[in-house]
Amino acid sequence: MNRRTFIKASTAAALGTIAASNFSFAADAEIELSLGEPGAVISPHIYGHFIEHLGGVIYDGVWVGRDSKIPNIDGIRKQFVDDMKRIGAPNLRWPGGCFADGYHWRDGIGKSRPRTYNFWQSRMPKGLDATEPNQFGIHEFINLCRLIGAEPYVAANVGSSTPQEFHDWVSYCNAPAGTLSLADERAADGDKQPFNIRYWGVGNESWGCGGTMRPQEYATLYRKWVTQFPSYVQPFLVATGPRGHSADGDIGWTTGFFENMRGYQPPDGFSVHYYTDLRPTQVKAADFNAAEWYEVLLRGIRLEKVLEDHWAEIGKFDPTHKTKFVVDEWGVWYKPGEEIQPSYILSQPITLRDAIHTGLTFDIFNRHAEKIAMANVAQTVNCIHSLFLAEGDKFVRTPAYYVFEMYRAHMGAKQIPVQNPVKDLNVTALNGPATLPGLSASASVRESKLTVTITNPSLDASVPVRIRLANGANAREAKGVVLTHQDMRATNTFTKPDEVKPTAHPVKIEGNALALTMPKQSVVSIQCEVG
Ligand code: AHR
Repeated sequence: MNRRTFIKASTAAALGTIAASNFSFAADAEIELSLGEPGAVISPHIYGHFIEHLGGVIYDGVWVGRDSKIPNIDGIRKQFVDDMKRIGAPNLRWPGGCFADGYHWRDGIGKSRPRTYNFWQSRMPKGLDATEPNQFGIHEFINLCRLIGAEPYVAANVGSSTPQEFHDWVSYCNAPAGTLSLADERAADGDKQPFNIRYWGVGNESWGCGGTMRPQEYATLYRKWVTQFPSYVQPFLVATGPRGHSADGDIGWTTGFFENMRGYQPPDGFSVHYYTDLRPTQVKAADFNAAEWYEVLLRGIRLEKVLEDHWAEIGKFDPTHKTKFVVDEWGVWYKPGEEIQPSYILSQPITLRDAIHTGLTFDIFNRHAEKIAMANVAQTVNCIHSLFLAEGDKFVRTPAYYVFEMYRAHMGAKQIPVQNPVKDLNVTALNGPATLPGLSASASVRESKLTVTITNPSLDASVPVRIRLANGANAREAKGVVLTHQDMRATNTFTKPDEVKPTAHPVKIEGNALALTMPKQSVVSIQCEVG
């Protein structure tokens, strides 16, 4: 960490006192950025996505069918494509999740497709069915990725499949036209050109729904699955990693896996799942109090320590850190009961609180850019931390969607180190007093464009902020955007879709500094030219 790069938060902010909102007083928080000493490139794939055959995610959320009255492109919901393009969605993970380890890819190709068992059937409310119709298979998925401009990331079946089934799928997808019979079959099914899929997940949650394995058992299967991998394009292979939100962070999984990989080629990616898991509590998604607001944010930022701990553990086996994290499931997960309709299991309302959580999460990812190859929100539509809710012809962008939009400029830019002011905000959460960083921030630069994103988790205090550019750098043409609302529970619904939306936010240039006020309960994105 560059010592000259820091945020200083004053006692006033730390105590949560309310500051006036103008530019004439000294800032309570000062961020110093050394543009000449950028860090790692923030992988665009950190802002990635995940869709699973689960509840209303694929069927309805994404796939409405070619004969639907809902505007669609080859059966894919047009609004979904348009909005994903708008945020530059870099990738899509599919087909699961837990579904992946029960999925047999041949069920999803060709004209006549079987109806098959879906892992989530047993989790459906009594009387509701989840039979998998297989209308959305690999061709439809690739078409979706192409329409959006997103890279496909496919999770392969390890739990109930064979290495050969996996390798055949890879060949079906990637073998050049006119070579293997599998390439001819792909062409006959409508896609002569190979899909060139690079990102392959070798199983999912292999410690749980992906096979209830021990790490050493999984490491053995991982090696079997990848040793004869047909490499038509240089693959990026992702091994199943820990359940990061376990009480102990699940370090044992990481130790066990890497111990059993000693002497073998380490994976390119190591999956981490981190849910801000409120299921064991009474905290609701839509209706909550201040303590429950802070509880969610406190649980959310534990992700940072989970990443640091697992990184240090991996470093014992792989000191050069060839393997990078793929945080391929993250999000706030509330207990059941607030679904948009009963069969859309795991769907839940998304409020301003979840948008603030999104900002905190992205700041963590950006600040640890050198460790993270990819991250995928769970899930993009109609499930857990959704960017969209959809039901028939109704479709709405949640507040979380707009945070993706506001952070877009970080994708592929070089990170500028920023240190969070720790333990600045004294709050009361579910278990009594606790502390949260008074502000969370991350910054990046691409050529002459600087992007700074800041989140203020406080329900009470706005914070005046000065962002100072070190070494005499100057700022020009500063623009700010804020996402906030006077009601902490504010959300977007089918009938009120625009309740929580970004608006312009004043940012003043003062010599080599930018001055702004961070409203309470807000995320702000600032962009300017620097030179
Ligand atoms: O995202 C929902 C489920 O959560 C996924 O299927 C599984 O991988 C995780 O436990």
